[in-house]
Amino acid sequence: MTHPVWPLFDLRVTTPRLELRYVDDDLALELAELAARGVHDPGFMPFTVEWTDVPPPQQQRNTMQFYWRCRAEWSPASWHLTLGVIVDGRVVGTTGATARDFRTLRTFETGSWLGSEFHGRGIGTEMRLATLQLMFEGLGAQVATTGAFSDNGPSLGVTRKLGYVENGGTPHVRRGEPCRTLHFEMPRAHWEAHLRRDDVELHGVEACLDLFGAR
Ligand SMILES: CC(C)(COP(=O)(O)OP(=O)(O)OC[C@H]1O[C@@H](n2cnc3c(N)ncnc32)[C@H](O)[C@@H]1OP(=O)(O)O)[C@@H](O)C(=O)NCCC(=O)NCCS
Repeated sequence: MTHPVWPLFDLRVTTPRLELRYVDDDLALELAELAARGVHDPGFMPFTVEWTDVPPPQQQRNTMQFYWRCRAEWSPASWHLTLGVIVDGRVVGTTGATARDFRTLRTFETGSWLGSEFHGRGIGTEMRLATLQLMFEGLGAQVATTGAFSDNGPSLGVTRKLGYVENGGTPHVRRGEPCRTLHFEMPRAHWEAHLRRDDVELHGVEACLDLFGAR
């Protein structure tokens, strides 16, 4: 089924291990419920926006509003792509990419989370690789960027093992205390030489190119 007006609804990426699917309302609800069951140790805040420190059902409502906002505020000049991650038919988390002026800069920033029960099994690495494939191969990106707090071991673990280059940091207030965000980037040439896959399939990208400013 092809959506006549909003082709992002048909955007999918498949790897032998998982599927990424554009977040529609059903997926938004599943992700909101998954997040409310826990995304991280309550004693550790991995996000710059402390959206998981909100009690239910407000957290679920905020989560759904976030997905609606991403859709409603989309433009080729500034977009935030959100994708649900599905493993063996279960929604396990989300990965996404944001960009401004992609048409000119060809640069995107990734972000992601998994429900706590799905951490530490290599899914985070596989979904990052799938997102990179979509952006570099599907959209013709030139540079990937990402970031994490300096004490977020699993997130930095994924970023470092894929070969991103650290290029700075920013001070940040987290739960009222100072901390540091580390920034990383990866040029297209690194992805092409080391990370490009021939077992990742992109579906529905062509119809979305104008929306991404990627034609
Ligand atoms: C970040 C996240 C998406 C990573 O997904 P994941 O499936 O747990 O990650 P993977 O299992 O694919 O890989 C994690 C890597 O980090 C390594 N790692 C884990 N803890 C680490 C630590 N404290 N220090 C260094 N490396 C660490 C792991 O060993 C693994 O590397 P390996 O495969 O070479 O052994 C997931 O942990 C998550 O959702 N965390 C909570 C939300 C979050 O932090 N989101 C990112 C915000 S920037």
